[in-house]
Amino acid sequence: MRHLTRFADLGADGARRLIERAEAFKGGQLPDALRGRILILLFLAPSLRTRVSFQVAMARAGGSAIVLEAGGGIWPLETREGIVMDQDRVEHIEEALGTLSRYGDALAVRVFAELESDEMDLADRFLNQIREKSGIPVISMESAAEHPCQGLADAMTILEHHPDPRALPVLLRWVPHVKPLPKAVPNSFLLTAAAFGCQITVSAPHGFELPASLVGAARMLAVAKGGTVTESADPDCGSDGSKVLYLKSWGPAGHPRATPVAGCHAHWRIGSDWLGQMPEDALLLHCLPLRRNVEIEESALQNARCRIFDQAENRIYVQQAALEWLFGAQA
Ligand code: CP
Repeated sequence: MRHLTRFADLGADGARRLIERAEAFKGGQLPDALRGRILILLFLAPSLRTRVSFQVAMARAGGSAIVLEAGGGIWPLETREGIVMDQDRVEHIEEALGTLSRYGDALAVRVFAELESDEMDLADRFLNQIREKSGIPVISMESAAEHPCQGLADAMTILEHHPDPRALPVLLRWVPHVKPLPKAVPNSFLLTAAAFGCQITVSAPHGFELPASLVGAARMLAVAKGGTVTESADPDCGSDGSKVLYLKSWGPAGHPRATPVAGCHAHWRIGSDWLGQMPEDALLLHCLPLRRNVEIEESALQNARCRIFDQAENRIYVQQAALEWLFGAQA
């Protein structure tokens, strides 16, 4: 049984094949493998794009999606093993998974990082527990460690403008936020862009470095395809030569929740002046949602380089391709 909860489930060649299928679906083809299938979406954290794009992906291909939200009409779920369930959590995740495995053809799950430590978040304990106990294929809608469908949609958006992205200068740049955010999105972007051989710089203030093990894994992927991964703590790094500017906030390194971030490094916010220094054909990407005038000046969103809605749309097609792969219809 296939699962797609991390980049390594596909690998570099699998990601490329999947994006080729996604491009065909964007061009008007439909994935036969989704017709008549039922996808159960289990949200343990909020969503706009992921929730709607998965439903659209299934509906357009003749399948259907059932949305379940923890605390929104299903029983409160207990996730700890060996616990005496004498408090307010009515159903254990294992019975829920056993039941849902009899109803659906695949299970899509969103769980968020606990932000206790980078190490714990990268271990992805909860999603791995779901993956192990589920009787049907599991696809991640973002977990503590990765957001693989977002990373694939980001790569597809880059490939639409740069069909051969080897050695393409890409800047993954930290921006300020009001609270520490998970690292799943930058982790997935870094791994996926690296697997396409981009020349990536990760730029963040001191103390906000991405986990060294994740950066090391991305570096190995990049080098295998002729790319590089370097790090910088200079807020102006890459403003004049980057062809892709990926903006994202994430929490501090190590113990993200323990460190206040509100008001920190406000000078890292991106404005129109910063974008104006970039090549005219550069792409501005952000996974959304974004905090206007905290992460990026509102006026900068009107810049012609901004491709945030292409990214959001591409979620539909990469998810159709991912589900097709999950159902075993593609190698
Ligand atoms: N980019 C993304 O996953 O958006 P949502 O959190 O709205 O699903």
